[in-house]
Amino acid sequence: MQTKIEKIDSSSALAIKIIETQDENELDFLSFREKLSYANISHQEKKREWATARMAIRDALDVLHVPYPGFFKDEHGKSQTMNGHGYMSLSHTMGYAGAIYHRDNPVGIDMDLIREKILRIGFRFLDQSELDFLAKDPLDYTMAWSAKESIFKCQGKRGVSFRENILLEPFDSKTGIIKGKIRGTDFTDHHYTVQVRVISDVVLTYTIW
Ligand SMILES: CC(C)(COP(=O)(O)OP(=O)(O)OC[C@H]1O[C@@H](n2cnc3c(N)ncnc32)[C@H](O)[C@@H]1OP(=O)(O)O)[C@@H](O)C(=O)NCCC(=O)NCCS
Repeated sequence: MQTKIEKIDSSSALAIKIIETQDENELDFLSFREKLSYANISHQEKKREWATARMAIRDALDVLHVPYPGFFKDEHGKSQTMNGHGYMSLSHTMGYAGAIYHRDNPVGIDMDLIREKILRIGFRFLDQSELDFLAKDPLDYTMAWSAKESIFKCQGKRGVSFRENILLEPFDSKTGIIKGKIRGTDFTDHHYTVQVRVISDVVLTYTIW
């Protein structure tokens, strides 16, 4: 299975994998609870995405020499470690799954296919100030969308609106960084720096609290 693993620093790492057909023996590292969750997914494509994302987080943990702790979903849908140590986030999109782990800080990761149709739904997830500065280009819109997904996943709580509560600063799509903040919630004062990459036709973003 093709994998790109990146050690960000001594506390964090990410891994991106191409989703391929699974050999079930490769999933022995999963916890009992995770094996049950996996068995309950009926759609084959979803099964592959789910499993590949867990293999990606295992690879990110390996590079940091952290044993796989097993994960469960909290009441917001965010995955938490079974042993209470460290933070993770994961994402899957057409053909790819990715995951990030950090020993001490919450993290968010997202991957999205660049598609023309995102231009038509900008008004749903962008504030007027963002609509004003963004070039009307699928790449720029996908970067803005994905940055908001990463920020959303990093904070982890349901009920945070992309348009109302997550505000991005003007950015240049070539710099690889998008700054943003959450406003109008308990995390009003928190500012995020989102890292942005383009891998063929997919935008990858991640942020560390
Ligand atoms: C839940 C949500 C974050 C999933 O993102 P997505 O792009 O559809 O899918 P991805 O593959 O990138 O991410 C899925 C992973 O997000 C994680 N996730 C789900 N809820 C989460 C939360 N509250 N916090 C952090 N991570 C979460 C899960 O690990 C999930 O993977 P899994 O099901 O295999 O465990 C997203 O759909 C969402 O609800 N966003 C907020 C709602 C919103 O405001 N939407 C836009 C309005 S226009």
